[in-house]
Amino acid sequence: MKDLLRVADLSPHDLAHLLDRAEHFARQPLDARELLSGRTVLLYFAKPSTRTRISAETAVVRLGGTPLTVGPAELQLGRGETIGDTAHVVSSYASAVVIRTFADDDVKAFAQAAHVPVINALTDGHHPLQALADLMTLREHVGDLRGRKIAYVGAATNVTHSLMEATALAGLSMAVATPDAYRPDPAVEAVARKLSTGGQLLLTDDPREAVAGADAVYTDVWLSMGDAAEEKESRVAALTPYQVTAELMAAARPGAIFLHCLPAHRGEEVTAEVIDSPASQVFHQAANRLPTAQAVLEALLTRTLAGAL
Ligand code: CP
Ligand code: NVA
Repeated sequence: MKDLLRVADLSPHDLAHLLDRAEHFARQPLDARELLSGRTVLLYFAKPSTRTRISAETAVVRLGGTPLTVGPAELQLGRGETIGDTAHVVSSYASAVVIRTFADDDVKAFAQAAHVPVINALTDGHHPLQALADLMTLREHVGDLRGRKIAYVGAATNVTHSLMEATALAGLSMAVATPDAYRPDPAVEAVARKLSTGGQLLLTDDPREAVAGADAVYTDVWLSMGDAAEEKESRVAALTPYQVTAELMAAARPGAIFLHCLPAHRGEEVTAEVIDSPASQVFHQAANRLPTAQAVLEALLTRTLAGAL
């Protein structure tokens, strides 16, 4: 397996391996610090980022390499050079490429033409690095993930999609509560159902049904990067009943944690009372982005992952 473009690229064993290595890097951050010695990793960000960019850059440094971060204005891509030519050329310099952009197909095309590992750092459809940190955080809280349950409440996003695939691979159950207009992509739903290793996947429009028995309640922004700003008003109207409140948290399993990929909007998808409560693990979850990024880079650079196929 060369690239990580979505969680479904991984086998259940790959996922467990990455979580184990991430826990290892959390304890021993500078283990493997020779891996990228004298080498570079290109990070291309066409959308803003706080966590992904800085954790990935730091992960490269911890593995002994030098991160080179560029945006669309700095590459000839913006002046019409093809994705294929860019990927071909960059593969001669960098040992891996981390890409945050809009279309999943663009990252796929880049990966196909690149000779080095390509990592999806968020597209419109997927956010695999986030899902790894999410499962790592829950595993630290509950131990063995099998048989546990995550409830996702709000609008389905790239984060939801990756979490659906990750929970399926890990044997977790997941319930996704959204209004009808903001349900997960049916194609991702089908993949998640196919990948399932024992957990249940429930799609519902009822937040209380979703959180019943959940070990973690998760939400994401109501308007993602790339969504039309004019949609804001209609989204707020449709999604307000899906706000994660203290009352909703009380309907989850006792001791349930609150998760959010961040950035968060207090008073929209979650109340300040919940995200700033002791049940909230959001900052620890964000911190886990660093060891999980190290684990992914290490595994792809050493060709440790078998892949799903
Ligand atoms: N959660 C996440 O990916 O955050 P950034 O957009 O800040 O990278
Ligand atoms: N769904 C959000 C996630 C941000 C990390 C977005 O794509 O903007």
